[in-house]
Amino acid sequence: MSEVTDILKDYSIDVKKVIENHLSTIDPKELQESSIYLTKAGGKMLRPALTLLTTQAVGGSKEQALKTAAAFELIHTFSLIHDDIMDDDDMRRGKPSVHTVWGEPLAILAGDTLFSKAFELVISSKEDNVHPERVANALSVVADACVKICEGQASDMGFEGNFDVNEDEYLNMIFKKTGALIAGACEAGAILGGANQEIIDAMYEYGKAIGLAFQIQDDYLDVISDEEDLGKPVGSDIAEGKMTLMVVKALNEANDEDKQTLIKILEDQNSPIEDVNKAIDLFNKYGSIKYAHDLALENVNKAKEILNILPDSSSKNALSMLADFVIERKS
Ligand code: IPE
Ligand code: IPE
Ligand code: MG
Ligand code: MG
Ligand code: MG
Repeated sequence: MSEVTDILKDYSIDVKKVIENHLSTIDPKELQESSIYLTKAGGKMLRPALTLLTTQAVGGSKEQALKTAAAFELIHTFSLIHDDIMDDDDMRRGKPSVHTVWGEPLAILAGDTLFSKAFELVISSKEDNVHPERVANALSVVADACVKICEGQASDMGFEGNFDVNEDEYLNMIFKKTGALIAGACEAGAILGGANQEIIDAMYEYGKAIGLAFQIQDDYLDVISDEEDLGKPVGSDIAEGKMTLMVVKALNEANDEDKQTLIKILEDQNSPIEDVNKAIDLFNKYGSIKYAHDLALENVNKAKEILNILPDSSSKNALSMLADFVIERKS
């Protein structure tokens, strides 16, 4: 585990420099400060590490993928700023969320600025002698992931109050809101490293599998973690009536009385802590928490299997360790 956090930290050093440099010209000052704020708040930097590691694992150079790696972190950060507005969450990365500090209008603009800056960054990788066709392909990967994030976030909101959502619909929603960017980060790394189409596709599938596991674990941590470890509110998915795999499973398995109890708690937009705990008891009663963990593990194992297509290297090992990390992490 500590080896993985060391890898993430190592890769984050150069990425952070690119980001700091690229955001330094934003004007006026409040927009610059609100845009930079979360990039310095200590995220795990998983997505840029995936781009850099996949590039290296297919024989490419880290330098040529650096700007695109940073772009993936900016897209992720943009999505977090907007997500906290949508979810009405006031803590992020252990700090007050952007809209809590600057208000919603500026937070929307800060997100939009990071989104646009990400595209600039991918295009500017031409300066690092990346072939224009690879730049164009990486750009379309980023754009595709952004559309999917919006689709997934729209489904996430649409699922609130809809107690008929099934597992496939849930999995499609989390693939779009979370998995697509992680898959894209891996696909773009393979593209920039000059991999053939078979390997590019495999890296996308690897990212998709760890992305699904990542969001299932995110939902799971919302239930079992504490705010200090997590850096964001705990129990907020239940309090806000979010559709998670644990809810889908419990609603499927529960007797009528328990089902109605759970629906009532989810319908209440400001559930008190006792109700959140009652919902968690029901998750346990119907084996939902174990079910979610097992499905996350299945996806991690699938991801590691996909890596067999790559030649042995330290980057390939790191990608395998990152797959495990996704469900071993506590934050
Ligand atoms: C949180 O992502 C949002 C989800 C997609 C679940 P991370 O857990 O990667 O957040 P940071 O970047 O480490 O803060
Ligand atoms: C976030 O899902 C997905 C995106 C940011 C696109 P969540 O709403 O579960 O993420 P957290 O738990 O707030 O980080
Ligand atoms: Mg959220
Ligand atoms: Mg959300
Ligand atoms: Mg969450």
